[in-house]
Amino acid sequence: MKLVTCGLPYANGKAHIGHLRTYIPADVYVRYLRMMDEEVIFVCGSDCHGTPIVVNAEAEGISPRELVNKYHKHFEEMLKAINIEFDYFGKTDSEEHHTRTKDIVERLVKNGYVYPKEIELAYCPVCKRFLPDRYVEGICPYCGSHARGDECDQGCGRHLEPGEILKPKCKICGSNAIYRKQKHYFFRLTDFKEFLLDFLEDVDGTENALNYARQWVKGELRDWCITRNLEWGVKFPGEDLVVYVWVDAPIGYITFTEKACEKLGKDWKEIWMDGGEIIHFIGLDIVYHHCIFWPAMLKGSGYSLPDGIVASGMVKVEGKTFSKSRGYVVWVEEDYLNSGFSTDFLRYYIVNYTSHQKDLNFSWELFKEKANNELIATFGNFLYRVFHFAWKNFGEINVSDVDSALLEKISETKKKIEKSIREWEFKMASDAFMELAAFGNNYFQSAKPWELIKTDKEECERIISSCLQLAKALLIFAYPVIPKTISKMVEVIDLKTDELNLEDALKLAGKINLRKPEVPFEKIDDDKIEKMEKLMIERIRKAEGGEMETEISLEDFKKLDLRIGKIIKAERVKKSKKLMKLEIDVGDEVRQIVAGISEDYSPEEIEGKLVPVLVNMKPAKLMGVESRGMILAADVDGKPVLLHPDKDVPAGAGIR
Ligand code: 2FM
Ligand code: ZN
Repeated sequence: MKLVTCGLPYANGKAHIGHLRTYIPADVYVRYLRMMDEEVIFVCGSDCHGTPIVVNAEAEGISPRELVNKYHKHFEEMLKAINIEFDYFGKTDSEEHHTRTKDIVERLVKNGYVYPKEIELAYCPVCKRFLPDRYVEGICPYCGSHARGDECDQGCGRHLEPGEILKPKCKICGSNAIYRKQKHYFFRLTDFKEFLLDFLEDVDGTENALNYARQWVKGELRDWCITRNLEWGVKFPGEDLVVYVWVDAPIGYITFTEKACEKLGKDWKEIWMDGGEIIHFIGLDIVYHHCIFWPAMLKGSGYSLPDGIVASGMVKVEGKTFSKSRGYVVWVEEDYLNSGFSTDFLRYYIVNYTSHQKDLNFSWELFKEKANNELIATFGNFLYRVFHFAWKNFGEINVSDVDSALLEKISETKKKIEKSIREWEFKMASDAFMELAAFGNNYFQSAKPWELIKTDKEECERIISSCLQLAKALLIFAYPVIPKTISKMVEVIDLKTDELNLEDALKLAGKINLRKPEVPFEKIDDDKIEKMEKLMIERIRKAEGGEMETEISLEDFKKLDLRIGKIIKAERVKKSKKLMKLEIDVGDEVRQIVAGISEDYSPEEIEGKLVPVLVNMKPAKLMGVESRGMILAADVDGKPVLLHPDKDVPAGAGIR
């Protein structure tokens, strides 16, 4: 029996593309394994403890429990919508999780791996409280970046121990923190150095994760402080402290396996006590915890060790490092689902953009291209053409004689997919079925069945049979990546998704009674993408402005380089309803500026006009067209009305 897990999302905020970057490939992996007859349990759940939760609950003015319940529900809904199907999606604030954590902590204590020590901890003299983890911010002692109390999240990515951060400041009131002594408990991580070096040689997984971890272990390991001054969390036995969230969170993998097994009538001990196969899917930012703390904890308490640690590369949004606070984010619900995009487009994008280990850049323009040109024009096109032709001209057909070149091609594709999945190369698997679809299109196109049907119906039937076999194989091969679309398409040839198996791709389809096919995907139009890009730009601008004061100083106003510009040339942006590309003389140069005025003005009526221009606006790309500056207009119920100076003035005249 195999267990696949995904890093637990903190139940302190909404689901975003960073989560999906790990969860979608894991879901795809599990679906392929099941189609290769492997018995797999797939679990995840909400990470409910620690300062990430407490700090956000305080900010939202609700209790930690209310906060985690709210976001747990949100995650459940998002996962369902994106077709990520865990056998169990639990919560770490559950009773059974507390019990399992207590068991492991007690085993570690009993085995002599835990000891108390007095340490200096950040303390806020104004709030009069200790400042664990995210309650404190300061400077990373290793790389000098701005860091959180327990992690250098913007710099070198290191885990920081309590007391390590330099220039600590209280996150709540902003005061300088002081250091105060208190007794805490430590895990003897240093005892595990040899074990970890061996473990990291043996364990399977992606090199991006393992290489980092090997370096860290070869360098200096320190014992690990595993208790915190918080109310919310799993109590540390006999003390008024809770265990550090990174002690209890991964134990969630065990708790949720127990729950999943209860549901499925299986024995969780086969996995966690008897060396079943355990594969963790994680993001690159939590490698340290999964490759170092976690295996040492498991070893020290006598549980089974992970067999594979698979780390997804980082996420970029429109070419910039993913950042919620800076606006480089795609929210699953608000941005994606509420705009009505098919979930399969996003699943395909994430799987197919690049290798699992490399950085994934999400761009709306590329998203549109991949959906329209690859999924629709290649994949969907083949299926629809074949199904529609077969249904219309034959209705019923017996697939008993298939072109051997085609069978060979299907078999090759199957082998490629099997190999790619074993190597966690999901892009390669999806490329393989896309190539098969392209092959199918060529085959159909050059055989010209629409002519044959008039001249040689028998030959036409042979060709269409072959195409149907290929279509069947495609449905099977693509199901893990785009399950929603495939669930609909399999009905045309009377297959059932829960019975799909990779082997069946080569078994002749036999007698098929075709149903009328539906068009598999809806094309994405440019307007929608333009809207998404605009939204993103606005969000980034807002984030850059930070919390703008309602009143600004003359100093601030002077930062704006406002001038009168002359529109030299205007031209509508191709495929866009709203955008107009302008060339504007701003005095010392001619600038290309894109403005959303195409619905209200024609190029002819604005050429030669004078308009106010914000010249030092950050450059941006709209629908792939660069814009350097912004023209100002009156906003009348969302419609732009251009502004012109009262007298003729030279281009470049300043505005004060
Ligand atoms: O970094 C995070 O988002 C954590 N909530 C991941 C926990 S993974 C596991 F160890 F529980
Ligand atoms: Zn650092």
